[in-house]
Amino acid sequence: MTAPARLIAVESVSKRYVTSSGPVEALHDVSLTVSEGEFCTLIGPSGCGKSTLLGMLGGLVYPESGRILVDARPVTGPDPGRAATVFQDPGLFPWRTVLENVEFGLELAGSAAARRRSIATALLGPLGLKGFAEKYPRELSGGMKQRVAIGRALAIDAKILLMDEPFGALDEQTRVLMGEWLLDIWRRTRKTVIFVTHSLHEALFLSTRIAVMTARPGRIKSVLELPMDYPRSMESPELVALRAKLWGEIREESLRAMQ
Ligand SMILES: Nc1ncnc2c1ncn2[C@@H]1O[C@H](COP(=O)(O)OP(=O)(O)O)[C@@H](O)[C@H]1O
Ligand SMILES: [Mg+2]
Repeated sequence: MTAPARLIAVESVSKRYVTSSGPVEALHDVSLTVSEGEFCTLIGPSGCGKSTLLGMLGGLVYPESGRILVDARPVTGPDPGRAATVFQDPGLFPWRTVLENVEFGLELAGSAAARRRSIATALLGPLGLKGFAEKYPRELSGGMKQRVAIGRALAIDAKILLMDEPFGALDEQTRVLMGEWLLDIWRRTRKTVIFVTHSLHEALFLSTRIAVMTARPGRIKSVLELPMDYPRSMESPELVALRAKLWGEIREESLRAMQ
């Protein structure tokens, strides 16, 4: 088997925001490469620049120094074919049905009505939303809403899915089930996922690699490889040991962030 091609290269990226109370150094000299098809998780204390890094990968935030390459080309702005983002807030349009929400990105991209309807309809099964096509967001549970948001991102078929704490607002049980569902979707679609979470369980259950970030200014503290097969048993000795290691690193940075 040939090794998967490198898709993303973050090269010595730094970012400082200028605010009314002075400059904030969000990221400092961050480098990371991600191969095609990986599920790479960023984990680190609040304010360490995870969303900033995702924003850069999406082409919405510009590095102050360094650069980001996708498919060996520098990212200079948003490109729906390259990356789609899912946030903690599903951000659905309340006046649009489930199907119309899933179609939204395709509509923006100028896709013909019949084509976008057929793509969105085909996604309803995998989204677990069959029979909900004509419902409105107010009629859905939190998990369902988030699946619509993920469907909207999948519909445009971007190579990279950027997920910024997508399950952060859900209750714990729903969250575990959404993780199982996302694992299935990822394995079927073979997207490259960059995932931000505070949940050790999610990180260990889903990721091919976990990048732990330091307290602000965010740097990559360590990268954990998770070569275990899916679906994973969280009680396996390997994962229990990795969990302890991961928590040790995160704890250290979280304590620093609290000071
Ligand atoms: N648009 C902005 N303007 C000013 N400061 C910002 C902006 N976005 C983020 N920051 C600051 O940069 C730091 C990193 O933020 P963020 O990337 O959101 O971190 P995280 O997602 O890890 O919590 C924080 O201190 C935050 O307050
Ligand atoms: Mg964030």
